Amino acid sequence: MKLLNRREVLAGFAGTSIFSMAGFHPAFADDGYIELTARETKIKLKGLAGPDSELMGYDGLVPGPTLRFTRGQMVRIRFRNELDVPTTVHWHGIRLDNAMDGVPGLTQDAIPPGGSFDYEFTPPDAGTFWYHAHVDSWSQVARGLFGALIIDEVTPAFAPENDHVLVLTDWRVDDAGAFDVASMGGMHEFEGGGRIGNLLTVNGVEKPEIPVSSSSAQRLRLINTSTARILKLELTDAKVAIIARDGQPLASPKEVSGDILLGPAQRVDLTAEFAPDVPAELNEFGGIVMARFIPSGPATAQASPVLVPADLPVPDLATIRWIPLLMEGGVSGRLKDPEIAQLHGGMAMKATAPPLWAFNNVVGMGDKPLFEAAGGESIGIEMTNKTEQYHAIHIHGHDFRIIRQTGPANTTWFDTVVIAPAEVMRIAFVAGKPGKWMIHCHVLEHSVAGMDTWFRVS
Ligand code: C2O
Ligand code: CU
Repeated sequence: MKLLNRREVLAGFAGTSIFSMAGFHPAFADDGYIELTARETKIKLKGLAGPDSELMGYDGLVPGPTLRFTRGQMVRIRFRNELDVPTTVHWHGIRLDNAMDGVPGLTQDAIPPGGSFDYEFTPPDAGTFWYHAHVDSWSQVARGLFGALIIDEVTPAFAPENDHVLVLTDWRVDDAGAFDVASMGGMHEFEGGGRIGNLLTVNGVEKPEIPVSSSSAQRLRLINTSTARILKLELTDAKVAIIARDGQPLASPKEVSGDILLGPAQRVDLTAEFAPDVPAELNEFGGIVMARFIPSGPATAQASPVLVPADLPVPDLATIRWIPLLMEGGVSGRLKDPEIAQLHGGMAMKATAPPLWAFNNVVGMGDKPLFEAAGGESIGIEMTNKTEQYHAIHIHGHDFRIIRQTGPANTTWFDTVVIAPAEVMRIAFVAGKPGKWMIHCHVLEHSVAGMDTWFRVS
């Protein structure tokens, strides 16, 4: 008899265990560290009867275990690399100390096969975050090295049964339904819109049915872990409001009807009020069903809990220093005479893709930062997208706002933002903790092919 692995056991209870793993924690070492191990794993992406996919997983799971902590609580994670390639872990969106940020060659050395690294940080903000590999991430994230990182409010705003973590992932599978390894690293993925899949999963399961309560507002934490796909989401048959973006609560809930765009690496927290016994669907791009919600219980009576926004430093537009960031390259805008930068010590990733994209005519991360800032200084980045592709620009360790020339101030915080072809977008933030912080495109095929830079905070 074949023993079921943990994920198969969980998937067997699809709709119960795997979708309500609040409080699930992996193993603790004797000294209080949580152990987290990256290793190769076999996963069935197309149902339990489908073929095995050769993936990489944290603790052998895809997505990795949902790591859940409380704001202000010290997090200690002993990470082990049991892959046969180097890796690191990045805690996406957490405003942590630079040394724990997981960027090879910038904040730490890549962890070799058989090696380990102790990550230790105290998350300052409650919200929806995620963790993922940061070495050859176009390949390692595409193969499954990602998971949800949830930081609870000191008193959780929603009861565990009303709080759902939904890790949304785009996969390219072959006709049999196994992960398509052969198509990895194709030139068109690096120079075009990245690797776009043909299978969407929620917590590793295709079209799961998720039981929800219709008697109180449900918190849905959506995380887009796709390497390139911009999800265009719609939740039918429910009253929906956005309560947080990229982990940070909005000043007040924003009701939505219609599409919610969620770029690679972005998160959105929703409240959804489901009608008793009326199934609802999470749809992508006008019709692909990603998940079904099966409500039960009487109709919602109480008001939805309210999240308290974090007290983030607000950039001062009077003293702000603007840094231009010009994006060029791609299949239809070949770089003319770019400067090819190589970051010393660990960016082996640069060997795997040709120089195709540039920030300010520089391909990849060099020894020179894009800019230097003093802690507390207000910094603006004026991004000009001269390419024909969408990009998802992520700033490590900082939250920023989109600055409009006219109209009301936009008070929503992001750590990743999607910029459209030919768009000019200005974002602003206050330089935070000292160290070297990366800025890159989270279309991970673009990042490896040049869309990387960094800045120093002193
Ligand atoms: Cu999600 Cu450089 O990271
Ligand atoms: Cu890009």
